[in-house]
Amino acid sequence: MDKILIQGGKRLDGRIAVSAAKNAALPIMAAALLADEPLELENVPDLADISSMRRLLQLLGVEAIHKAGAPGRMALHCPELLSTTAPYDLVRKMRASVLVLGPLVARAGEARVSLPGGCAIGTRPVDIHLSGLEAMGAVIDLDGGYIHATTPKGLQGGDFRLPMPSVGATENLMMAATLAKGTTRLQNCACEPEIVDLAACLTAMGAKIEGAGTPDIRIEGVAQLHGALHRIIPDRIETATYAMAAGITRGRIEIDGADLALFGDALDKLRATGLVVEATETGIVVDGGDRRPLGVDVMTQPFPGFATDIQAQFMAMMCVADGAAMITETIFENRFMHVPELMRMGARITVQGPSALVRGVEGLKGAPVMATDLRASVSLVLAGLAASGTTEVNRIYHLDRGYAGLEAKLRACGALIERVA
Ligand code: UD1
Repeated sequence: MDKILIQGGKRLDGRIAVSAAKNAALPIMAAALLADEPLELENVPDLADISSMRRLLQLLGVEAIHKAGAPGRMALHCPELLSTTAPYDLVRKMRASVLVLGPLVARAGEARVSLPGGCAIGTRPVDIHLSGLEAMGAVIDLDGGYIHATTPKGLQGGDFRLPMPSVGATENLMMAATLAKGTTRLQNCACEPEIVDLAACLTAMGAKIEGAGTPDIRIEGVAQLHGALHRIIPDRIETATYAMAAGITRGRIEIDGADLALFGDALDKLRATGLVVEATETGIVVDGGDRRPLGVDVMTQPFPGFATDIQAQFMAMMCVADGAAMITETIFENRFMHVPELMRMGARITVQGPSALVRGVEGLKGAPVMATDLRASVSLVLAGLAASGTTEVNRIYHLDRGYAGLEAKLRACGALIERVA
């Protein structure tokens, strides 16, 4: 199995081009199921999760065409559905597969989607997706580990208040509602920028959506959607990760294509650590000012709050902070798997329930480490960049799910990092 070797302790200085947001691209790809005309996408990131979604869509009847000589360009065309079943094998590997549920029900009136099951960071149920569809007239049966959704009277617009602002449920319900009869009002929706991007793409396809990016979204169903061209937004999680690569190595990184407006509250938190984060003509620049970051408390929250997807990376940076930081995870119940691994590198962390108290140390020491999810894995890469000696990061297939060209991007900033078989 491949692993990543890092000779740490080098101050990073250089330039990185940010990729497009995986978490925007995945639901937008699923939206191709809603129309019988091609959806052309620009800026699709080259990631394992994107390939998984493409494989699932192909199974359902979507033709996926990559334009030669046009990296990041993908056309998805579903003239007719060949299947309405998302099998366990694919859903198990990538939970975002459940995003085909809403589009399939809307287009075919029926879907069988495997229940994703638990994952490393928590139980992650899909009950909100299902009760939202029920509010739109779908009948849901759970059978043999599969969700079976039917619409005996067609999909109808309805009023639904999400019990918590789930990103995936907001996306699934918004997609389903585009083709439902009448108006759907969704309350307490998630407000993440990826939802705004999905709404922009659906609107380009002819959907009528108001309020995406706020807790209250109204969708007026239309008879059909058409083809469109859409460019995916930059990845705010990847951006913040490289910003913290600058912070943890006391370096300076320019991140081309990044957008400060997508950071939410994380921007203030990064700045509070002493990082200088500014917009440039081509993106942003992050400067650690050649000094240790300051300890800053954070609590993860739905957008615009501090994103759970950058909690592990922030914790890595706080391990070498001047001072202490209390990091509280409120979105997922089991998202501290990086803690014992960081401690093997010399970090001082005490976990009490959903909070981790990190007492900053002068420096970390390289060690062999591994993690069980994407963001935890990249937090270990960050720690390795700052640590003295060699860090060996195992199970790196997690990284390939969400970080396109990770080693090349870091190497361009002077990191001594390589992938070995
Ligand atoms: C998305 C992101 C993921 C991110 C997460 C939170 C994608 C592909 N993934 O995941 O990277 O970490 O948002 O920002 O965009 N919940 C329920 N019932 C449901 C749905 C969710 O209880 O039906 C709970 C979850 O267990 C979790 C919380 O709600 O505790 C937030 O989950 P949700 O926002 O749905 O995350 P995802 O869409 O799965």
